[in-house]
Amino acid sequence: SDNSHFSNALINWYSNNKRDLPWRNTQDPYIIWISEIILQQTRVAQGVDYFLRFIQRFPDVKSLAEAREEDVLKYWQGLGYYSRARNLHAAAQKIMEIHGGKFPDTFEAILALPGIGDYTASAIASFSFQLPHAVLDGNVLRFLARYFGISSPVDNTKTRQEIKELADSLLDTTHPDNFNQAIMEFGALQCVPKNPNCSECPFENSCLSLANHSVNQIPRKKTK
Ligand code: ADE
Repeated sequence: SDNSHFSNALINWYSNNKRDLPWRNTQDPYIIWISEIILQQTRVAQGVDYFLRFIQRFPDVKSLAEAREEDVLKYWQGLGYYSRARNLHAAAQKIMEIHGGKFPDTFEAILALPGIGDYTASAIASFSFQLPHAVLDGNVLRFLARYFGISSPVDNTKTRQEIKELADSLLDTTHPDNFNQAIMEFGALQCVPKNPNCSECPFENSCLSLANHSVNQIPRKKTK
């Protein structure tokens, strides 16, 4: 189907509202990988300083692979979830051994690295290599669930898959990097969890949950 209206509105919003973040000025897969792993469990405001220190000390795959694990962990001190740092170190060594030090450039090879799941593989594949993989983080999930009026629990595998397929179908495959950055930023800044400003939203006239007054009930979670 023709998604140009959706992606044009989204990308227009992004060009007017995006934050200037250091990992957005590069296509280097190593740099993007480090930023996405840091941002998995860390807020952008806290993540920026760690990111800048980390890539200054370990500027490429080789320097990370050759470092001592204690040194890598030292640069992670305070971020928590230390398995992320151990996986970064192990993955850098794997890239040296299996890929001759060159960051892999297919979705499947990226996904095969330790500590890299569907989200991170899609981010690297699209931001670095312009591959058509939609990213689905919590912010994108909330936005799309609201936009399509999906009131089934989003922490359900089938619902997640359904939303992932919607994201892939909306993806602007000529600019997957810009589209993915834009949809994540839109969820983070505009389609926020509490009291989003829907009267100043570019999707005011096409958002299903706004039309049926369910914005604040979506995303729904399973009752445990
Ligand atoms: N959170 C996770 N990835 C991000 C990115 N690339 N930009 C901003 N926030 C993010």
